[in-house]
Amino acid sequence: MVHAPVLLAEVLNLMNIEPGGHYVDATFGRGGHSKAILKNLDSNGRVTVFDRDPEAIAVAHSLSKDDCRVRVRHSQFSMMGQYADLAAGEIDGILFDLGLSSPQIDDRNRGFSFKVDGPLDMRMDPANDMSAREWINSAPEREISDVLWKYGEERASRKIAKVITEQRKVAPITSTSSLAKLIRGCTRFNRSKIDPATKSFQAIRIHINNELVEIENGLESAIKLLKLGGRLLVISFHSLEDRIVKHRFRDLDYIARESAKDNSQQIPSFRLVKPRLIRASMDEKKINPRSRSARLRSIERCL
Ligand SMILES: C[S@@+](CC[C@H](N)C(=O)[O-])C[C@H]1O[C@@H](n2cnc3c(N)ncnc32)[C@H](O)[C@@H]1O
Repeated sequence: MVHAPVLLAEVLNLMNIEPGGHYVDATFGRGGHSKAILKNLDSNGRVTVFDRDPEAIAVAHSLSKDDCRVRVRHSQFSMMGQYADLAAGEIDGILFDLGLSSPQIDDRNRGFSFKVDGPLDMRMDPANDMSAREWINSAPEREISDVLWKYGEERASRKIAKVITEQRKVAPITSTSSLAKLIRGCTRFNRSKIDPATKSFQAIRIHINNELVEIENGLESAIKLLKLGGRLLVISFHSLEDRIVKHRFRDLDYIARESAKDNSQQIPSFRLVKPRLIRASMDEKKINPRSRSARLRSIERCL
């Protein structure tokens, strides 16, 4: 199970890599971006990598065994500010490549995909308390419909939540295929269009992994770590993620321009590296379908 890193050339270009610098890969996955950054570093350079998934962390450990420039942290990226070797104002560049890796989606046992049958799980870190199975079989109907609406923008959220709560009185919903079947039964399934289970599966995954709060907190931690000239790059895959990144980056850029008018204010300031988001080229989209929805945004600390 492989994972092709998206927007790799664009990330390397925007990161403006210093050979002896210290970089953070907040979402190691299978290390495609980390390995490319390492190739641009000399022996003084360092890459600290985070992932909450133990399978990704096992791959990271095998990389760090052969390369002493790599440090591995099995942790949520929102916790990056808690590590003593990641001091505020000392990091040259940080990358977030959000969402799931291909191995997570492709492994039916992780329960992320509605395309194959597997246990209903969806935890990025299987040590976390609540699996999708536990949640679907215990949450109040109203909570389920709110999650499907809020994180999936699913118009049939109420109907789907009702069907789920009725079905689980008969027997618990334990597999991805049984949940997908219930959802498909609530909406009109047109084979030429997107599978009706897509939005609900996205919503449940976001809820189970608390993904949007993680992004908000992860960005705040990362911003504090950047040194002068350091850059923060974020690749997102859907509008809910991208909205958080876009608004926070624009706010920071605005605050910097406002405080520049008042010379007495010497607070850390940030500017947008590119005013617009960057998307994958046609060539990359052809080779790697995951890149079709990828959006890259970046800021630089400039004071
Ligand atoms: C799209 S993949 C990254 C792929 C990677 N850039 C590569 O080239 O192989 C996203 C990874 O981020 C991890 N992840 C997602 N949210 C996280 C969080 N809040 N904290 C730590 N890791 C997270 C996932 O477990 C997954 O392995």
